[in-house]
Amino acid sequence: MKKMIDLIEEELGAAFERAGYDRSYGKITLSNRPDLCEYQCNGAMAGAKAYRKAPFMIADDVIANLTDKVHIGEIEAVKPGFINIKLSREAVASYLNRMRGDAGLGIEKAENPQSIIVDYGGPNVAKPLHVGHLRSAIIGESVKRIARKMGHKVLGDIHLGDWGYQMGLIITELKERQPELAYFDDEFGGEYPKEAPFTIGELEEIYPTASAKAKEDEEYRERALNATRLLQNGHRGYTVVWRHIMDVSVKDLKKNYENLNVTFDLWKGESDAQSDIPDMIGRLKADGFAHIDQGALVIDVQEESDTKEVPPCMIQKSDGASLYGTTDLATLVQRRRDYDPDQIIYLADKRQELHFVQVFRSAKKTGIIAPETKLEFLGFGTMNGKDGKPFKTREGGIMRLESLIADIEEEMYKKITDNRTVEESEAKATAKIVGMSAIKYGDLSNQAAKDYVFDVDRFTSFEGNTGPYILYTIVRIKSILNKYTAGGGCLENLSIAPAAGDSEKALMLEALRYSDVLETAYGELAPHKICAYIYELANAFNKFYHETKILAEEDEKQKESYIALLLLTKDILESCIDLLGFEAPERM
Ligand code: ARG
Repeated sequence: MKKMIDLIEEELGAAFERAGYDRSYGKITLSNRPDLCEYQCNGAMAGAKAYRKAPFMIADDVIANLTDKVHIGEIEAVKPGFINIKLSREAVASYLNRMRGDAGLGIEKAENPQSIIVDYGGPNVAKPLHVGHLRSAIIGESVKRIARKMGHKVLGDIHLGDWGYQMGLIITELKERQPELAYFDDEFGGEYPKEAPFTIGELEEIYPTASAKAKEDEEYRERALNATRLLQNGHRGYTVVWRHIMDVSVKDLKKNYENLNVTFDLWKGESDAQSDIPDMIGRLKADGFAHIDQGALVIDVQEESDTKEVPPCMIQKSDGASLYGTTDLATLVQRRRDYDPDQIIYLADKRQELHFVQVFRSAKKTGIIAPETKLEFLGFGTMNGKDGKPFKTREGGIMRLESLIADIEEEMYKKITDNRTVEESEAKATAKIVGMSAIKYGDLSNQAAKDYVFDVDRFTSFEGNTGPYILYTIVRIKSILNKYTAGGGCLENLSIAPAAGDSEKALMLEALRYSDVLETAYGELAPHKICAYIYELANAFNKFYHETKILAEEDEKQKESYIALLLLTKDILESCIDLLGFEAPERM
């Protein structure tokens, strides 16, 4: 379906043309004076210079030439030359009915679906999942869902950090504790045990212990670095330990992400790219793209238009070790070969921006990816505590994701049981659903690149710009609909009639913006635009609800129209929260 804003633009553009002006001056925007009008056009102002005419005269001309109004209801020129527009109530109702009749609620899917990889999550295996990775998972999941909704073919790849120094640390500590294990016996020729020599609980303790030791003890650190090198060069026993670490951690990660309602199509990682590195480096050298600089192999990426220095992308250290950038480049080689994507979107902390600039430029310049492939970095800010510092536990330690979720659920549980609208037996499950909305909406309602304060009290509140408020609104609609059907009403074959009241029309105007908002959210990779929209939509609904006797309405046709509008509002809200990655309960 065409967007309403485009329909009015066409109508007004035609009037500009009939009046002898270029139709491109008929550009429409949402009104910035909602007290005066719903939409506005500033084209007469813009055209004044080109046509050497007072803007007000142009506006008058255009309005005189608006012969048959379809979508436009009232139109008026105001000094010095603005054109103020209100939509026709009939056209709005008929547009909403068409939305209701469309499975996609009127969105126009991409004409040329792109194949897109979203690289998000990016946890580092064997290190505890902490809140820093929460943002990547939440924003990435939403971006993936939005792109899919717009009709693109999207694969989400977790891109595990599974090939680094943490592996050497764990191997070293394990060897220290259990030197008798076969993995450490270089003479061993038999079959290694199938069972991992540790549980996830033990693994979670081994890593921080080893990491702390390495910081204090230079000799220990050397051993860990050496173990990392041996692993990366294919040491037989270490490779099996690495597999064990992977199996145990990935199982745990899957559980954690499932809890977050985050799912990946690909569980690939840095380790998967390693086999492509030698060839890639060989080719980069042969083609003259990489050269030695102070012992290291680098690709120059500085461009003439740069105002700041962009250091070269380092792909091999003097000791032959590869780096973060090497892995990302080799991953591109692989992604092109295996999936041939049109676009890749990366999510990571915004402090990694320079890394991605270096990788993207290197990939383009060397032909690792095609010139038309779009590489995009979506950098996010830090999640802070109320003190403005990175979010910590009450004791000041690093906040683990599991504990954060548990804390929020507990808070929600208290609120829900205080409200007494939900049976005790349902309260735990409801707290989980509502808690997820508090966390995700709290995050997504901020522009990704900004740091934000994770404020448990605010995020879990049922009032204000929060996830629970949105859910509360949906639950309220569901409850009215249930009462309606319980009273014998039927939800089929209803249609929306032209708005009778102002708050009703305001709600309708919000509802019809749905496809426009989705398009913008996708175009700008900005889930926060969806949050801002549903907050407005929920506010418009609640205002309408407080001013209107819905179920007590005596005119049956009018009541049916209200119910149809409620159904549409609920469908839009539910579709939007699904794009944000959470859902609504039946009661709360
Ligand atoms: N593992 C990285 C981190 O914890 C994030 C990975 C982002 N993706 C990528 N292709 N580099 O910061």
